[in-house]
Amino acid sequence: MFDQIYNFYPDKMTKAFVAPAVYPAGTVHFKTTDLEERTEPLKVLLCHPEYFDIVDVKNAYMEGQQGLLDKNLALTQWNELKSIYLRLKEEGVVEEVLEIDGAAGCEDMVFCANQTFPWKNGDEKLVVMSKMHHESRRREVPFFETYFTAKGYTPLHLKNATMFEGMGDTIPHPQLKLLYGGYGHRSDTAAYEDLSSLLQVPVITLQLIHPNFYHLDTCFVPLSTTEVMLCKEAFTADGMKVIGDMFSKIYEIPINEAITTFCLNAHVIHNRKNGKKAAIIQKGSTVALKALNETGYTVYETETSEFMKSGGSVFCMKMMCY
Ligand code: ARG
Repeated sequence: MFDQIYNFYPDKMTKAFVAPAVYPAGTVHFKTTDLEERTEPLKVLLCHPEYFDIVDVKNAYMEGQQGLLDKNLALTQWNELKSIYLRLKEEGVVEEVLEIDGAAGCEDMVFCANQTFPWKNGDEKLVVMSKMHHESRRREVPFFETYFTAKGYTPLHLKNATMFEGMGDTIPHPQLKLLYGGYGHRSDTAAYEDLSSLLQVPVITLQLIHPNFYHLDTCFVPLSTTEVMLCKEAFTADGMKVIGDMFSKIYEIPINEAITTFCLNAHVIHNRKNGKKAAIIQKGSTVALKALNETGYTVYETETSEFMKSGGSVFCMKMMCY
């Protein structure tokens, strides 16, 4: 359909022709140079881990971890992460460090990348509410709806999706109006049809085929408009092909490093207002660390062992917002 419009109005080869629409791997016919610029969020929201616990098995990492959580250590690690963000605020990398309280009975709420997807269209702040795969995690979402509404956001609800886990599965292309949507474990493709029309943004969907890479944020880290680091075992051949079409340089991380260190759950921040770049990553990676250094990031290594027992690390433990 878009090709027809393109051919019918040869004088109107505008950038708008790519939005909104969902592009499964193998159907992408545009280049990153066709895309509009995106306003990137520079505020960090954290959720206090007071009620963090491991009560069931929601992913491969949680297997056998019930009862093994060291809650005091978890709090220490969370405070350490928060202090890194506060330092990044002092240094002008991020604009603000915000906090939402945890809630009793919401043991996974600390992973606040999952309950929403914040967005900005012009001056309007929008937030898409997630549809969590696990019943127990659905309780977390209303707390975020209340929080963002009070901050002046308009909450948006998905229509046809049966599951969608926010920024855990939806990762923007750096600087541009394009989203990558992981599906198969915690989000479905209908979610991206809804998201694309609600936000007026194109989405490239990527099927996740490995149980350890159950969210896109466990296996895919865009580093710049042209560079990405990832674990190829997480994706289909078609998925890898489209990623290769959108990024000219791929840093491949060995699957063992990706699973044992959670390095592909690093949080990379590039503040384009002042050019400052910082990355926060779980301690212990080597290949990923080298890629971050090579691409100009100041790296902060931190310990998130207690959160990794629940299948999450740095990227999952924050939400970027406006
Ligand atoms: N225990 C949580 C779950 O399985 C961990 C979520 C991690 N979040 C993420 N964005 N990868 O839902």
